[in-house]
Amino acid sequence: MSKLASLLGIRHPIVQAPMAGGITTPELVAEVSRAGALGSVGAAYMTPQAIEAICADIRARTTAPFAVNLFAPQAPKPSAPEIAAENAPVLDALRAELGLPSETAPPHVQGLFEAQLDAVLRCRPAVFSFTFGLLAPEHLRALRAASIVVIGTATTVDEAVLLEEAGVDAISAQGAEAGAHRGTFHGSFEDGLVGTMALVPQVAAHVRVPVLAAGGIMDGRGIAAARALGAAGAQLGTAFLGCPEAGISPAYRAALRSDAALRTVVTRAFTGRPGRAIRNRFTEALEGRRTPPFPEQHRRTLDLRAAAAKQGRADLMLLWAGQGAPLVRPMPARELVETLVREMWGSGSAGVW
Ligand SMILES: Cc1cc2nc3c(=O)[nH]c(=O)nc-3n(C[C@H](O)[C@H](O)[C@H](O)COP(=O)(O)O)c2cc1C
Repeated sequence: MSKLASLLGIRHPIVQAPMAGGITTPELVAEVSRAGALGSVGAAYMTPQAIEAICADIRARTTAPFAVNLFAPQAPKPSAPEIAAENAPVLDALRAELGLPSETAPPHVQGLFEAQLDAVLRCRPAVFSFTFGLLAPEHLRALRAASIVVIGTATTVDEAVLLEEAGVDAISAQGAEAGAHRGTFHGSFEDGLVGTMALVPQVAAHVRVPVLAAGGIMDGRGIAAARALGAAGAQLGTAFLGCPEAGISPAYRAALRSDAALRTVVTRAFTGRPGRAIRNRFTEALEGRRTPPFPEQHRRTLDLRAAAAKQGRADLMLLWAGQGAPLVRPMPARELVETLVREMWGSGSAGVW
């Protein structure tokens, strides 16, 4: 058994990435974990009560290990009011198209991370993963005391070394191809746009903890390639968006199957933090414009994104996706895990992993 297998309690070197915003339903996570990979709950936008409820729901479906994921707390950056003012007319024009009144951003919730982490500690999932930074030593100590395995996210070698020094048990190395938010937390986000194929072997050479390759991996060949580059396993997000268990709207599914999936862009338009999404009219409307930082822009665009999703308007929806999106295969989660495993071994990834 490999270090990763025994660490995470899994049979296959595959992690279904956490995907916040209701995508990682209990059905998806439980099916992935039951199939012997690691299902992960993207819990960053959940209330503590919702975190406890989803953990109970998954446990009612399977005794297999699963992960819960949060965004590391950010030092709040003061936002220049003129930047929000510059954006307001553009966003309000899009709101008008959707029949929405002008902006009604919900207030910022203070101290949410602490309350979310307390919920995680009460649930005690086998694994906790996080992105966007480092954890405070007391948070890591609490997770360790609860015997929860901790995975941090790095987009550069420097970040991986910082995470290892901080005491994480494994590192998800997120290449530039990856869907959704960039995890970059040290240095400029542009410096963190390193492709998976370049990032993984460098991170693997600089840290002793197991490395999960993430970004653009869509099939078993990709997992085998990642392992050949020194990764212990792979973390796949976009590939699981094709599963019927994934909590995405029909318009999102249709966009992933369309030619639009050929064109993704790293944009701050939706949340203020760079992330890779399918290019659409929303990303184009804010292209080249400054945005308030995360999570302010996230709050300012929530109503717009929700209305667009409700109305099936893919041109104005948030369609997070990695560069591998055209390779998404619509199949149930269990079948996808089994297919990935079969393909991985068929690609010559020999030996006991
Ligand atoms: C729709 C979507 C939402 C995501 N949300 C999260 C999240 O909440 N937390 C996190 O750590 N990573 C998140 N990620 C990033 C994944 O952990 C991972 O880095 C990425 O999916 C790998 O690239 P791929 O999408 O090409 O497989 C998300 C990815 C996608 C596609």
